[in-house]
Amino acid sequence: MKFGHFDDEHREYVIETPKTPLPWINYLGSKEFFTLISNTCGGYTFYKDAKLLRLTRYRYNDVPMDINGKYFYIKDGDTVWNPGWKPTQTDLDEYECRHGIGYSKFKGVKNGVKADVLTFVPVNDNCEVSKLVVTNDSSEEKNISIFSYVEWCLWNADDDSRNFQRNFSTGEVEVKGSAIYHKTEYRERRNHYAVYSVNAPITAFDTARDSFLGLYHYAGNPEAVLNGKLTNSMASGWSPIAAHQLDVTLKPGESKSYVFVLGYIENPVEDKWESHNVINKKPAEALLAKYDTDAKVDAAFAELNDQWDKLLNIYTVDSSNDKVNRMVNIWNQYQCMVTFNMSRSASYYESGIGRGMGFRDSCQDLLGFVHLIPDRARERIIDIASTQFEDGRAYHQYQPLTKKGNSDIGSGFGDDPLWLIAGTSAYIRETGDATILDEMVPFDNDASVAQTLMEHLRRSFGYVDTHRGPHRLPLIGRADWNDCLNLNCHSTQPGESFQTFGPSEGPVAESVFIGGMFVKYGNEYADLCDLKGLTDEAAKVRASVAEMNEILLDSNAGWDGEWFVRAYDSYGNKVGSKECEEGKIFIEPQGFCVLAGVGTETGQAQKALDSVKEHLDTKYGVMILQPAYTVYHEELGEVSSYPPGYKENAGIFCHNNPWVSIAETVIGRGDRAFEVYKKTCPAYTEEISEIHRTEPYIYCQMVAGADAKFHGEGKNSWLTGTAAWTFVNISQYILGVYPTLKGLSVDPCVPADFGDFSVKRVYRGVEYDISVKQNGAQKGVKELIVDGVKVEGTVIPYDASKKTVKVEVVMG
Ligand code: BGC
Repeated sequence: MKFGHFDDEHREYVIETPKTPLPWINYLGSKEFFTLISNTCGGYTFYKDAKLLRLTRYRYNDVPMDINGKYFYIKDGDTVWNPGWKPTQTDLDEYECRHGIGYSKFKGVKNGVKADVLTFVPVNDNCEVSKLVVTNDSSEEKNISIFSYVEWCLWNADDDSRNFQRNFSTGEVEVKGSAIYHKTEYRERRNHYAVYSVNAPITAFDTARDSFLGLYHYAGNPEAVLNGKLTNSMASGWSPIAAHQLDVTLKPGESKSYVFVLGYIENPVEDKWESHNVINKKPAEALLAKYDTDAKVDAAFAELNDQWDKLLNIYTVDSSNDKVNRMVNIWNQYQCMVTFNMSRSASYYESGIGRGMGFRDSCQDLLGFVHLIPDRARERIIDIASTQFEDGRAYHQYQPLTKKGNSDIGSGFGDDPLWLIAGTSAYIRETGDATILDEMVPFDNDASVAQTLMEHLRRSFGYVDTHRGPHRLPLIGRADWNDCLNLNCHSTQPGESFQTFGPSEGPVAESVFIGGMFVKYGNEYADLCDLKGLTDEAAKVRASVAEMNEILLDSNAGWDGEWFVRAYDSYGNKVGSKECEEGKIFIEPQGFCVLAGVGTETGQAQKALDSVKEHLDTKYGVMILQPAYTVYHEELGEVSSYPPGYKENAGIFCHNNPWVSIAETVIGRGDRAFEVYKKTCPAYTEEISEIHRTEPYIYCQMVAGADAKFHGEGKNSWLTGTAAWTFVNISQYILGVYPTLKGLSVDPCVPADFGDFSVKRVYRGVEYDISVKQNGAQKGVKELIVDGVKVEGTVIPYDASKKTVKVEVVMG
């Protein structure tokens, strides 16, 4: 069952009912100012950091679900309604929400009045603009009142939800004309404030929440709105808000339009005040003036759309499969940009006050957005590398605002160092810019111990190379990619953190998965050594990689007979083996070892992937492990703390499904690669939205596995490495347009009935127009013709002097 439909022409998902199974959200903003907005206008806004500089308040876990947001109320006689249905939940005659690329539109109709809202964050300003158009479609004159409402957050969202003994006495506001200013703590160390304004004279306002809502009321029935009269309250402590009232008369057929702007302003310390305790509003007024007419707003909206046109033209596919076209050309890339902006910080499942940027997460996210914004990818790589320690380890997380490593969680995750190689290699393969390797980058943010980025990568590789266990496999440390496989933790008390309890390093517990990564990224690192002319080092690295390859295939180490072992625990026992009672087979080493090329010559790769199909496959995707753990295993940690079928305990973790799909392309099985791709692909799961429940236009992190009560139900949408990995999978492996250090390679692996297709790819300033004749083949390039000239192999020689290049590929 569907709750809406895709409008590909406008790059929108059109939600037809407010009663979606879960809030279906969108992200506005792409630089520093961000908003999360649901299909019923819930959500919140922050500047740069969802924890430290939150503008509006949101209550996670609130009921009714998703109640706080930025609302417009319309009072028409005795009826009060919202264009997005919530929070009054008054039945609407018509409702529509269109989530687009960086904007959302709402349409609500009630009793002959139509309200259209367009909300977006302009490309270059720290504000959110909402254009509200009210139209009288009835035959009578209408006298209505429009009310706006936002609730301010007292900046630090963590403190805001805890420190009430202080918070209830700090709130301060100012009002000037139609502009309501939130200036809590501006009197002391903050040099920033927020403003919420409308481009028309207002009848009244409220800035104190109690006056607006009334005692024992809530946003669903605000007393001042029900009374039709705001009270001009001035907040003093407690909970400051911003609400405007506009009284509007509409003749039959008449429309009126209003622009609301929510902005963030920073003043220089020496220029904070206009007069005693009166904030300097000049920059706010300048900002508001930029959006005070419809024409200005329309121009800013056009600029936003132009920006996305450019970005989304970098990689486009034209195939006979609409769903693939839709995902590749629009939604998958859009989600990659959102994960670039948010990492794992702020979504409807990540509260924005928890983890900031993940080291491994951000490195993997890079794989999905590097082609879109290479400059910002470069900056991101330097930021991430700056949190690395001198010995090659890394902070597991860092805060976006300070860019400093997060010492609460610290370091010791065995896979982290290798992901830095993955991200850097992707950047250089995309851009050809090897100068990044010469950048001086601090360790642990200490510039006095800076070394080149190349040296950082050397230490990344070296750390894993020199930290091996009894089978010469890499030590796992606190965990590897699977944060919940905590082999050194041995926690027995509730409340202990699985990720930080126990020694950060154990001498025994090993990860086969990191072994697969070592082969994949060791090879990529060796290529970078070659690029720098370091042939001896490249040879040494390749020797280590070859040794690891053998260890992985050895049935006394990485190989279990029918598949790859997952790990060895701190007692030296196997995890993910036929010898285990529960958790006999895991997805991660099968996908990653094979995508790294391990076992492709011995038949073990094929065997491992056949085992995945046999033991882990479901109609909703490939599960992370089987059989699920039914009891808590102290020696394994958090993985066994989830009930069977959820999250890392036998859930369908969408993130590593593309690894299996990529692995299938490596061994040339296009049918199976695509089958795996389809199972978690939003454009396909849209049809079962009532089961899947999360947004049908983007990926979620986890779908409940076969053991779970709600098999097929998605959770934790938006901020997941799935976005990047599925884009890598579909664009580079299935459609096969893969950036190498030497140029673009074209080597598709598609299902037998996929048909001919073409890809347009802007790469290092050259536009490639690639058309592929499939010939019913799943893999193999019979002919590669570049501008009429036949070329050997699959790599298009890079020629910067050309603007456009025509490429014909014949498979077979
Ligand atoms: C984390 C990833 C981790 C994955 C699997 C996600 O929540 O952000 O870093 O790899 O879970 O445990």
